[in-house]
Amino acid sequence: MGHPVYVWLPEATEPTLAGEFSHTGNVGRFEYSADYLAAGHPALAPDIPRNRKSTTVTGGLGIFPIFLDAGPDTWGRHLLERRLGRAVSELEALTLCPTDGVGNIALGPLSQERLHVLKLEEFLELLIAQSQGTQARTPLEEQVMDAHQRGTSLGGTKPKLSIERNGIQYLAKFPAQGDSPWLPHLECATLKLARSCGVRTLIDPEVWRLPTGATALLVPRFDRHRMASGSYARTAYVSAHALLRLDMHPPQHKDMQAFATLGFSPAGMRKSYVSLAQDMLRWSRDQTIHQEERRELWRRIVFNALIRNLDDHPRNHGLICENMARQQWRLSPAFDLVPTANLPQNPALCMAYHYIPPGQRGRAPTSGTAPRLISVIETGALLAAAEAHYGYTHAEATAYLHTTAQYIAEHWQTYFSAEGMPETEINRFRICFSLAQEIAWGQGL
Ligand SMILES: Nc1ncnc2c1ncn2[C@@H]1O[C@H](COP(=O)(O)OP(=O)(O)OP(=O)(O)O)[C@@H](O)[C@H]1O
Ligand SMILES: [Mg+2]
Repeated sequence: MGHPVYVWLPEATEPTLAGEFSHTGNVGRFEYSADYLAAGHPALAPDIPRNRKSTTVTGGLGIFPIFLDAGPDTWGRHLLERRLGRAVSELEALTLCPTDGVGNIALGPLSQERLHVLKLEEFLELLIAQSQGTQARTPLEEQVMDAHQRGTSLGGTKPKLSIERNGIQYLAKFPAQGDSPWLPHLECATLKLARSCGVRTLIDPEVWRLPTGATALLVPRFDRHRMASGSYARTAYVSAHALLRLDMHPPQHKDMQAFATLGFSPAGMRKSYVSLAQDMLRWSRDQTIHQEERRELWRRIVFNALIRNLDDHPRNHGLICENMARQQWRLSPAFDLVPTANLPQNPALCMAYHYIPPGQRGRAPTSGTAPRLISVIETGALLAAAEAHYGYTHAEATAYLHTTAQYIAEHWQTYFSAEGMPETEINRFRICFSLAQEIAWGQGL
């Protein structure tokens, strides 16, 4: 059976039927509708060209990358399965979920219920109803779900909602059970700090205080824009996880063998910043854009390294489409930037950022004649990587690393306390800034 695929074209506030997706096992097939092609509408993504009668995707889940990102992740899946009272497959989740997923695609028949976006006032009314006992009082996770009974298709593990306030659609992120109540403040401060360090982030993240006393982080959605009519247009999005086809690379026996002999596995290479920097070219198309975005990617690597954000996994990076007709994509504004308070012995990023081919002696002290894939945070490797993969000269990279470390070391506490975090909470993160401090004091470079 085929599933209709809808797209929000640039500046359009209503979805257009783009074609049909059918799926058997791990093979998926998409065919543009004759009307869509006749109207001269653009391709949905670089891997679904308009000039082919139908396009096939094989391996992994057998679902095209941009379709995958329209669906829910852990949190949204949990809500959907709870509502339906049963487990759902990846494809089923895509066709049943609310259409508030990131990007401009929706699969399956559309209903008003799937299209509904919660208004802030509605959310507050529900909260008040609950607090007055007209509905059962529940823990925060439950409250969020009950408030937004349709659940959410936004990815990630934390409770979240897409919410509209004064003509802006926001992503509202709530601390999960067991998280510190200061998490929204911490993330808000870190996003602002990143912006000051030249990392592209959204302006105006804010800590939202609910009447219940709870707090959430509110960030404007980068993939929703209000049009003059008052309705919203959408921008296409693909996560690094989907772009790199990581659904095709679950750890396998041969990976373990490669790990034993090479010191890294092909899956580790696939999941790396190095692969992302390369593969972005297929999506950005334009050499200038690709060069700008590779450099931006390195600045994000450096920022994550300097604040010890060790949760920089491939779903925490993605590209948005800035020109659909030309299929030009760039990195989306950075999100989910949070220092890791409980540091392991040798802190490493989630994705490897430097590759040293066999027989080459890089600047990093870890390099030798065997090939190396480096994710452990180390200044020599960060600098070597800047030249090898991200389009920086050594001098430029050294200057950026030094200036950024200095800024972070001097100002992180100011950013944290400006969000209202108490001294004890701020101190829990002191350890995360030791590398920035070492570099700032001239010891790390
Ligand atoms: N400002 C934004 N606008 C639109 N979509 C966003 C925005 N920020 C995040 N997203 C999307 O929502 C998803 C979840 O956001 P985020 O990563 O911040 O949540 P999380 O629950 O902390 O994730 P994790 O599972 O990594 O802890 C992201 O993977 C991204 O697809
Ligand atoms: Mg995330």
